[in-house]
Amino acid sequence: MVENKDPAVHVDRGFWIVTAVIALLSVLGVVGSYRFPITNYLPEAVIPANEIDSLARLLSAGGSVVLIIVIGYLLYFSIAFRGRSSDSPNAVGVPVHDNVRLEFWWTALPTAFIIVLAIFSVYIWRQINIGQPNNGIVLESIGHQWFYEFRYPKVKGTVPNEMHLPVNVPVTLHVTSADVIHSFWVPAMRLKTDMVPGLVTTLRFTPMNPGRYPIICTEFCGVQHGVMNKQVVVIEDKRSFNSWLSSTQAKNKNLSDNPNAASASAVNLSGGVASAGQQTFSQKCAACHSATGGFSQRIVGPGLKAVMHDSAHPKLVDGDPATPENVAKIVHNGYTGDMGNMPNAQTNGLSDKDIANLVAYLATLK
Ligand code: CUA
Repeated sequence: MVENKDPAVHVDRGFWIVTAVIALLSVLGVVGSYRFPITNYLPEAVIPANEIDSLARLLSAGGSVVLIIVIGYLLYFSIAFRGRSSDSPNAVGVPVHDNVRLEFWWTALPTAFIIVLAIFSVYIWRQINIGQPNNGIVLESIGHQWFYEFRYPKVKGTVPNEMHLPVNVPVTLHVTSADVIHSFWVPAMRLKTDMVPGLVTTLRFTPMNPGRYPIICTEFCGVQHGVMNKQVVVIEDKRSFNSWLSSTQAKNKNLSDNPNAASASAVNLSGGVASAGQQTFSQKCAACHSATGGFSQRIVGPGLKAVMHDSAHPKLVDGDPATPENVAKIVHNGYTGDMGNMPNAQTNGLSDKDIANLVAYLATLK
């Protein structure tokens, strides 16, 4: 092996020219990131879209500087210190180590950069999550295979296809899913969150620009995932919103408030076999519920001993009386509340027959 006789390599004029070019490109990257007219391509429909754009600009500026420095010097050093035909065939490079000054700076600068990004990100995160007013309207959006539905206060049932919002009124939006994981993304709002069955996620924002803005599902949720981009958020003035709201109230006045009520009452409980229910219970329920412990004997969910016969707990966790029909309703619809989350029958893989058997079995627990 032939070692370089002179390990002290000094940078030459080419290095400083490349450094100047990198500095210039970095400045262009920063200026470009801050001057790029995002809203020409994507309007900012709500508060805090602008704050999120600020974060995007900071990330783009910082990221372009890092990219230009890394790629710039990588290219320069690859070319300046390339193998030459005059080199010995087994020559090795210069072993550079123990350069404290260099190591200090390449540790300190990225650390400082990451800390700045973290502070700015947490600030924006606060703006999105807790800095928004919560004294406006409260709405729900529920993802389905393959559409979104929305629930409004004082409107029975749900509203499909379009989520109407009044301009300048703060919105608290609770987001969840009825089947698989979807996502709720409105690019013009810059807000995006997964819609997870059994979990309620909250978004807060204030619509500011009237218009129609697409909602896009970005979580692969089945064969028709691709059609979950046709629905829209409609931001409109107070008068149009109110007239839409009253016509929707009138249209929905005969609907039920429980989207699962119709199918839940359709679970036929007659013919349920307790022994089959016991088997299903041990397979599907026993991981979370004790059959031998009372209400307070929680595993994950409450103990179910005497669930339909416990005078100390005449009501189920959803506040309904502990009747077979209401137990079946919870098994069918699942539960989200103070006691935690229980997936619905579809998620648990329970047929109506399974539910009938389970309810027959639960009724025998005394
Ligand atoms: Cu819903 Cu993808």
